[in-house]
Amino acid sequence: MWDKNVLVIGSGGREHALAWKLAQSPQVKQVYAAPGNGGMDWDASGTLAPCESVPLNVNEVEDLIHFARKLDIHLTVVGPEVPLVDGIVDAFQDEGLTIFGPSKAVARLEGSKAFAKDFMREHGIPTSDYAIFQDYDAALDYVKNRPAQVVVKASGLAAGKGVIVADNVEEAENGLHKIFHEKVFGAAGDTVVIEDRLTGKEASVLAFSDGATLKTMLVARDYKRAFDEDQGSNTGGMGAIAPVDDLSPEMLDYIRATALQPVIDGMAKRGTPYKGVLYAGMMLTGDEPQVLEYNVRFGDPETQVILPLLKTDLYDILMACMSGTLHEIDLQWHDGAAAGVVLASGGYPDKYETGKPVTGLDKLADDIIVFHAGTHREDEDLLVTSGGRVMTVVSHQQDHNVALKKVYDAVETIQFDGKHYRTDIGA
Ligand code: GLY
Repeated sequence: MWDKNVLVIGSGGREHALAWKLAQSPQVKQVYAAPGNGGMDWDASGTLAPCESVPLNVNEVEDLIHFARKLDIHLTVVGPEVPLVDGIVDAFQDEGLTIFGPSKAVARLEGSKAFAKDFMREHGIPTSDYAIFQDYDAALDYVKNRPAQVVVKASGLAAGKGVIVADNVEEAENGLHKIFHEKVFGAAGDTVVIEDRLTGKEASVLAFSDGATLKTMLVARDYKRAFDEDQGSNTGGMGAIAPVDDLSPEMLDYIRATALQPVIDGMAKRGTPYKGVLYAGMMLTGDEPQVLEYNVRFGDPETQVILPLLKTDLYDILMACMSGTLHEIDLQWHDGAAAGVVLASGGYPDKYETGKPVTGLDKLADDIIVFHAGTHREDEDLLVTSGGRVMTVVSHQQDHNVALKKVYDAVETIQFDGKHYRTDIGA
């Protein structure tokens, strides 16, 4: 007990939430975050282990491995998708290190939307009709002759921005032009997936997997557009709530059976077992929810509202996933609900300024949790903004309404120049 060192890779609100939850484990002595952010250095207090940021970026794999060895890290946890898709898990495992996350072969499910769609088709997973293109003219021809509205997606990773939800043929054409001709997503747009547009409410269904057993987390909902009433560009997510109250247990069983377990089984059959978090972005269309996309990691900002509700020791869960013993874990959750609102820099997800001093964090109520993302600590008294999504303000209460009221009160207390947030999270 209290003797394990843990390393969290990443610098966002999700990674702050992971580090915070792991620091509560009775097994954990010290958490490190690489590179971490302005909120990820704290001393031990009560039952919370200390956390320290280390200046190593997520792509400095050799240095991260060296660090893990030198500091006797028992478990490394990867937050973002890019290092997973690039194969960081394989690199750590080749060195005999324990790391939580899927292998490079599994991470293609997020790294290539074309691969994901073909995988879904091969395994009979409910998803919208689609076609894959490497050529502008053929793609445009498809869009013009498609009776349905479409969504145009860059197949590769584009930081959550590579999805163009088109209201009409002109918007789809513009999207194709931007991707194929203007190369706005670079090589991520060399291949494009065009799929029929689905409508309905979305839900983020995340599950732990050890390669065979699957255990779902509380279902969350995130709010991806930049502005209220789902206006503006897609962002990484401007807020989240958990659990959602419009998904019945029967529907969750259906999603487990049709959208989650087939992935675990399909990957096992390929000889590439799925160990890590599987995140299905679902569209709740009538009786038969459809998969919009898969992610191979914890969601951001979903993690910031899911983990405060988790009762079971996260360290135990993650280790069970790696050792194939997830069936032995009794996943338990706190009652109530959590809500989180992202404070962003003005202009995000497009151009924004950084270096703005942040104030008011010392005036927040005790039942507010702030997970930092784009913050940087200049010195003990000066925290400044350093990214688009600056922080997620979270509260866990008896229900969403109370949680949201607490969060929005706190949001008014935190100040920085250009602060932008949605006022309709959870509405
Ligand atoms: N909230 C969306 C994501 O994590 O991809």
